[in-house]
Amino acid sequence: MFKSSTDYIRQTFAPETPEMRRARESLADPNDRIHISPQDGKLLHVLAKLADARRIVEIGTLGGYSALWLASALPPGGELVTIEKEERRAQTARANTAHDTRIRVMTGDALDVLSTLQGPFDMAFIDADKIAYPGYLDGVEKLVRRGGLIAADNTFLFDSVWHDAPVERVRETARKAMRAFNARLADPAKYAGILVPTKEGLTVAVKLT
Ligand code: DHB
Ligand code: MG
Repeated sequence: MFKSSTDYIRQTFAPETPEMRRARESLADPNDRIHISPQDGKLLHVLAKLADARRIVEIGTLGGYSALWLASALPPGGELVTIEKEERRAQTARANTAHDTRIRVMTGDALDVLSTLQGPFDMAFIDADKIAYPGYLDGVEKLVRRGGLIAADNTFLFDSVWHDAPVERVRETARKAMRAFNARLADPAKYAGILVPTKEGLTVAVKLT
């Protein structure tokens, strides 16, 4: 009946809406494959509910798949601002999320767009240029309220964060950046944080200050 524990979780806890399925299937370019799984998406939804999120900011929209999962946790008057650097992806995401007026896809460099936003936000989700994560954290720390949540995908950085030896596809500068990023969210003076061992690693931290 179930192929694996993952299959059981997906079928039991993480059924996709038709819009989510369409978003996942909308990206023809194999380089643009969506890496957020339905169970990752549902975890983001649960985290947004725990944060009682009315306003969420996301860095890295791609096709809008994670945006749909995050927005599915918002109350009727809520807002999800999602930032995408590539206009082509942003257009796809706008089409995939057009049915939900709470989702706003903004195009541009994340640090530029973040500086135009007014806080407070209840949650931030980072899933973009991995080497830029420390800079993104500087930006979202200013926007997320105390008690709010910061989550970030790919924080295993393709398993390079915990391996001693360099990992082929990951530059040393990127590995250093991701280790520094995780170390900041592991600081108990500022965050209650943990790296949740999803397939690619999802760091989750409650902002204490
Ligand atoms: C890759 C995976 C991701 O989750 C992501 O955000 C970016 C790149 C990858 O496997 O290349
Ligand atoms: Mg990712």
